[in-house]
Amino acid sequence: MPCPALPDGFDFTDPDVLHHRVPLPEFAELRRTEPVRWIPQPRGLAGFTDEGYWAVTRHADVKYVSTHPELFSSCLNTAIIRFNEHIRREAIDAQRLILLNMDPPEHTRVRQIVQRGFTPRAIRALEDRLRARAQAIVERAREHRGPFDFVTQVACELPLQAIAELIGVPQEDRAKIFDWSNRMIAYDDPEYAITEQVGAESATEIIAYAMNMAAERKRCPAQDIVTTLVAAEDEGNLGSDEFGFFVLMLAVAGNETTRNAITHGMHAFLTHPGQWDLYRRERPSTAAEEIVRWATPVVSFQRTATQDTELGGKRIRKGDRIGLFYSSANHDPEVFDDPDVFDITRDPNPHLGFGGGGPHYCLGKSLAVLEIDLIFGAIADTMPGIAPVGDPRRLRSAWINGVKELRVTAG
Ligand code: HEM
Repeated sequence: MPCPALPDGFDFTDPDVLHHRVPLPEFAELRRTEPVRWIPQPRGLAGFTDEGYWAVTRHADVKYVSTHPELFSSCLNTAIIRFNEHIRREAIDAQRLILLNMDPPEHTRVRQIVQRGFTPRAIRALEDRLRARAQAIVERAREHRGPFDFVTQVACELPLQAIAELIGVPQEDRAKIFDWSNRMIAYDDPEYAITEQVGAESATEIIAYAMNMAAERKRCPAQDIVTTLVAAEDEGNLGSDEFGFFVLMLAVAGNETTRNAITHGMHAFLTHPGQWDLYRRERPSTAAEEIVRWATPVVSFQRTATQDTELGGKRIRKGDRIGLFYSSANHDPEVFDDPDVFDITRDPNPHLGFGGGGPHYCLGKSLAVLEIDLIFGAIADTMPGIAPVGDPRRLRSAWINGVKELRVTAG
């Protein structure tokens, strides 16, 4: 029986629907009544076809699809589709080069190379510098005498600094890289007044910058991660174009996601003062994971069925599009006790905010968790009396659970 709660034309990827609130109450209704549901999509939003997509809302089904790439392909545009159309005009097969949009065995080959840059040792090596950055960001914000915007003044910078540190972007180039990255992700929201074309141009600039970096290291190897990825002599390395697209991916995947996790985390603490008191006293190591579950910055990613199959009692046809709704899975009462409670001591916490555990599971998870720990550690030490001023202003987006503005006082 179709779920009666969804009005005709209701679409989970409609920015006007997501604009209001995530998780949507409709997710709870679908999990109960029709956990795999066909959503017709006449307007073809968010990169889905004009036909529509299957909305997958239960934790178990999102995991199943994520861990069966042979049945559910990432190849036909998991994300970032609109940039591809522009970049293709530059005669680069962008689609083929974006990690998120690859399937095994190509995905396996590239992932094995790039994860050399994300080993526990590589992330630990960044910790001291990122701690100092986090502290400096919070101290600068504390100097505001009146209300200020937490998003632009606190949450924005650390994710970009982390990526810049990781790949060794020199200080003098960081401002322009940050500017390109921010323009590139801003196209989703008309209020930014940035067109798709400007977003695509910024993406092209990032690719060109990174390709240049790679070419230099191939010529002149150094003791850094770029050299490890592009100039290693052992089991393969990345071509300059592959490296260019990898950096582009980082600038998308590691930027707005972490920014929104930090902003939503702050908002959750401000609206749950008991949890903030607990955090300040005990700094539980489980806090960052709960912040990511609570925020679920990536509402959904997509897959395409490679053959006729079955999911949640529904017959899926080869070529059908599938929407994996992480924000619904993260509130599934089959898996989480009191899923609508923000509890920074939640343990275990098998949330799907970083993906459903398959081959595409977030490469930057350890880095993101480190950044969240460092920024809230710095806020608890330096700005413990931080207080909200009004309600947050949400980002209008088809797939990101974002906050554009969160006004606070340093307290
Ligand atoms: C993939 C979420 C931070 C790099 C993903 C996926 C999700 C995700 C949902 C897709 C998983 C799948 O399809 O199964 C997040 C969230 C973050 C975050 C919520 C912050 C709280 C980062 C950071 C980086 C990063 C900091 C790197 C600097 C990547 C990459 C992929 C990815 C490269 C693609 C992996 C692949 O296709 O093999 N992330 N991410 N992410 N993430 Fe993250």
